[in-house]
Amino acid sequence: MIEGMDSSSSARRVPAVRIAPSILASDFGTLANGVREAERMGGDYVHIDVMDGCFVPPITFGSQAVSALRPVTRLPFDVHLMVCRPETHIDSFCAAGADIVTVHLEAATHLHRLLSAIQERGKKAGVAIVPSTPAGALSEVLSMVSVVLVMTVNPGFGGQQIIGRCLRKVSELRRMREEQGLSFLIEVDGGIHRETAPDAVAAGADVLVAGTALFGAADPAAEVACLRGRC
Ligand code: DX5
Ligand code: ZN
Repeated sequence: MIEGMDSSSSARRVPAVRIAPSILASDFGTLANGVREAERMGGDYVHIDVMDGCFVPPITFGSQAVSALRPVTRLPFDVHLMVCRPETHIDSFCAAGADIVTVHLEAATHLHRLLSAIQERGKKAGVAIVPSTPAGALSEVLSMVSVVLVMTVNPGFGGQQIIGRCLRKVSELRRMREEQGLSFLIEVDGGIHRETAPDAVAAGADVLVAGTALFGAADPAAEVACLRGRC
């Protein structure tokens, strides 16, 4: 049980949860194999963490890497942009073959314009929030997005421990979605593994991002099944 969650919540499960393996935890020397592995283990998306050394300290993949990986799989690319000035990167990642482009509310001055630009390029728009940002800050853009990504760790690094209270925002977003008759997916990212997934799903998560738990597993397919509630 995660600190900050009530015990009744872990009993409920939503069967149709989707899994997004994060290739941040794969071998960077053979990234294409990481993408193939994401598909083989039963992932529904390939989660690609783009970090620019500004919004977060590390630097990971550019749009050229995304473009080179595009022919490797038919799975949708779920591109999580952890970058400063995201408006300068939208074009290149859309052109590189991203299917979902998620930008951080904290990095965007003109979030409405940015989300519109993603949609105009025929892509699904996502918005992400870090642990210190309240769900309510999204109220003006919820009707525009296909995905809300709730970071359950501070962004920048894989292998961190989940911040349990972030899952309250998942429940809150679920409520907001119902009240407003919207249909965006709620994605959680950071510290998700077989012990924490049940609480995330019970809180209302539709998509679970997992890196270390999957690429570090002896049997990644069994781990994916486990995240889906079958273990
Ligand atoms: C962190 C990234 C995550 C990361 C999750 O900034 O956004 O997607 O890959 O890694 P794990 O599953 O290891 O916590
Ligand atoms: Zn991510």
